[in-house]
Amino acid sequence: MKYNFDEVIDRRGTHAVKLDGMQEIWGRTDLIPLWVADMDFATPPFILEAVRKRCEHSILGYTEKPDGYYRAVINWLKTRYDMNVSKEHLNYVPGIVAGLGMAINCFTSPGDKIMIMPPVYHPFAWLVKRNNRQLVECPLILEDGHYRMNLDQLRREKKGVRVLILCNPHNPGGVVWTREELEAVAEICAEDNILVFSDEIHADLTLPPARHLPFAMVSEKARNNSVTFMAPSKTFNMPGVAASHTIIYNKDIRSRFNAWLEAGELNAGHVFAWPAVEAAYTYGAEWLEQCLEYIQGNIDYVDNYLKKRIPRIHAMRPMASYLVWLDCRELNLSQQELNHLFAEEAGLALNDGEMFGKEGKGFMRMNVACPRVTLERAMKQLEEAVARM
Ligand SMILES: Cc1ncc(COP(=O)(O)O)c(C=O)c1O
Repeated sequence: MKYNFDEVIDRRGTHAVKLDGMQEIWGRTDLIPLWVADMDFATPPFILEAVRKRCEHSILGYTEKPDGYYRAVINWLKTRYDMNVSKEHLNYVPGIVAGLGMAINCFTSPGDKIMIMPPVYHPFAWLVKRNNRQLVECPLILEDGHYRMNLDQLRREKKGVRVLILCNPHNPGGVVWTREELEAVAEICAEDNILVFSDEIHADLTLPPARHLPFAMVSEKARNNSVTFMAPSKTFNMPGVAASHTIIYNKDIRSRFNAWLEAGELNAGHVFAWPAVEAAYTYGAEWLEQCLEYIQGNIDYVDNYLKKRIPRIHAMRPMASYLVWLDCRELNLSQQELNHLFAEEAGLALNDGEMFGKEGKGFMRMNVACPRVTLERAMKQLEEAVARM
C-alpha cells in the first residue's frame, strides 16, 4: 500500500502541544510549528483501526498485557536489531521521560551524580536536577560538522557518577554512534559500576544506509549494565498513546526495577496501549519504510535549499530521525536575536539550540516531519527573513 505523507492535516482542536504550546513560549499560535518532536503525518491507519476496534467493545475494564503485545515487541526487536528478548526482559513504562524519571528514582539517591552528554535532549538535565541529583556534563566534540563523544573527558569525570544517560541515536544532531564509541562507553562505565540508561526512542527512525546499534548489543558489559528504553511512539507518531518499554538483561537490575515499579503499580499500562503497540509492530514495517523515505526527501530539501539560498545556515544532516540541527553561527547573532529572527521575522517555531545545553548556542532545531508544502513555505519565509537582516 502507498501511504500519503503529503496530506496536510489540521491539528487544531486536538490540544496538540506543538500548536497550543506555542502560546506559552512565543505568546502566539500562528507560527509554522517545526518544534515539538511529533510528526504532522497521520498515525498509520492500522494503529487507529486497532484502537477503534477496541472501542467496539462496550467495557473498557482493567486489562492484562496480552501475549500478542509481547510477541509483537519481541519480533520487532529480533527482526530489526537481532536482539533476543523474552517477556521477562520487558517492562511497560508510559513514556521515555517518565521511565527515565522512574529509573533515576529507583537506582540513585538524592545528591548522586548523573552524567549526560550535551547538547542533548533537554529533559535529561531537567530530570537530573528536578529529582535533586547532581548533573555532570560530558559535552560532545563538534568536529567538521559532526559530533563525537569525548571519551577522555568521560574517563576523567566519571568518579562518583552513578548513572550515564545515553541518547542513542543522539538528539539533537541525529548522531548514530559508532560501535567503537558504544563499546568504549560500556567499558568505561562498567569499570566503575556506572549504570547506563540508553534512550533509544529514535532507533527505528535511523535513516538508511545508517544502522542502529542497540547499546545492550555491543558487548557483554553493555548488556549486563544497562537499561534500554524503546518505544513505537516516535516511530509511528503515537506518543499520545503513552506506551513505551524498557529492556533489561541483567537479572538483578531487572528485579530491582520491577519491584520499584510494582510498588507504585506504575507498569500497569492502559487499555489502548496493547492493541496500539501490537498493531504498530505487527503491521508497521512498510509504513515506516515509506515514512523514512519521505523524511529523507525532506532533509535533502532543507539541506539543498540552505546551500543554494541561505548559505550562512548549515544543516547537520541527521543519520537518524527527523530533527535537523541548524548551525546558524555564521549569522553572528546572539541566541536571543536568533530566536527573534526565526519566530518574529520568519514566522517559524523551532527549538532554541541553547535549550539542549550551552553547547547549542548559535543552533536551532528544526522538525522536518511534515508535508513538503509546509517545509517549502517555511524555507521561503526563512530566506526572506535572513535577506532582510
Ligand atoms: C531522546 C528523546 N527521548 C525521549 C523523548 C520523549 O519521549 P516520551 O514522550 O516517551 O517521554 C524524546 C522526544 O523528543 C526524545 O527526543
